[in-house]
Amino acid sequence: MLAANPLCEADVTQEVLKVLISEADIQARVAELARQISKDYENSGELVMVGVLKGAFIFLADLSRQLTIPRVIEFIAVSSYGRGSRSSGAVRLVMDVRGNIEGKHVLIVEDIVDTGHTLEYLIGMINSHGPAVKTCALVRKADCAEVHVDLDYLGFDIPNEWVVGYGLDYAEKNRTLPYIGIITPAD
Ligand code: PRP
Repeated sequence: MLAANPLCEADVTQEVLKVLISEADIQARVAELARQISKDYENSGELVMVGVLKGAFIFLADLSRQLTIPRVIEFIAVSSYGRGSRSSGAVRLVMDVRGNIEGKHVLIVEDIVDTGHTLEYLIGMINSHGPAVKTCALVRKADCAEVHVDLDYLGFDIPNEWVVGYGLDYAEKNRTLPYIGIITPAD
């Protein structure tokens, strides 16, 4: 038997009450999304995948490696004012993409769409560079939407619970769990 990895244990500070989406189900859905995206973009030249830090880093890594089309990776970072259980809706750009995305095919890759404010802001911002923009999110809390944003690719609709894992955190913890779980955060 393998000895417990103290680094892994240290990462789990909130108790996961329930596994919402298993590792196997995530991997199967990511493979399906990759097949669909590869098909949709097969005659479009190079796809620029823009991961939204930090939460999208694992989803982007898995998704991008399963595509069968030419692709490059960019990252963007934003911060939301008043983020606690809900964001206030005011989004600020913290880090822009490095490459020139003018006239390119861009896919924004998000881990989660909650109120929708972040993605709404990003679509508007990236659109101003003039590329063809589509959106992809692993999970969406449909009950929490405050603004409507078009999602071209979606992994799962989920209930309004605190979720962690596969990139999602609570107070920076639990991002590296291989599954998505529900927690009750301590206040
Ligand atoms: C999360 C997530 C999205 C955003 C969605 O980011 O990665 O970017 O919230 O929320 P919204 O739909 O209500 O705007 P978060 O601010 O938690 O930062 P992180 O990705 O660095 O954890």
